[in-house]
Amino acid sequence: MTAAQRRLLNQARRARARAFAPFSRFSVGAAVEARAGRAYTGANVESASYGLTCCAERVAIFKAVTAGERAFKRLAVVTDTDRLTPPCGACRQIIWEFCGDIEIILANLKGQAAVHRMRTLLPRPFDASLL
Ligand code: THU
Repeated sequence: MTAAQRRLLNQARRARARAFAPFSRFSVGAAVEARAGRAYTGANVESASYGLTCCAERVAIFKAVTAGERAFKRLAVVTDTDRLTPPCGACRQIIWEFCGDIEIILANLKGQAAVHRMRTLLPRPFDASLL
């Protein structure tokens, strides 16, 4: 794990504390690092109409995009689970479209971590180049 990866993981871990997850009680923290250097954090926000819930990864990416960022280096996801939590299918699509083949760092609160490339998490992606 590099210093940059560790830094981003710490930001995702802190963001997790602000999850709004009263229905699932499954709190997720995320942080995405822009190529220009700034990091943007997110946590999952749930709705009583469950399907309207927004995952931590998308909150972080949408914050970054609406701050004007268009290029990214890596994204970190932190949960309190034994098995590390990879992004859901909907988030994989959004990560691919906005971030491309970035590093995805997964970790839990015990300090276990793994690094993947987006390409391996979403093989043969659909995106605007196919429209
Ligand atoms: N969730 C995330 O925020 N990110 C993931 O990668 C997996 C799932 C959230 C959505 C919902 O609030 C809760 O975790 C349980 O699915």
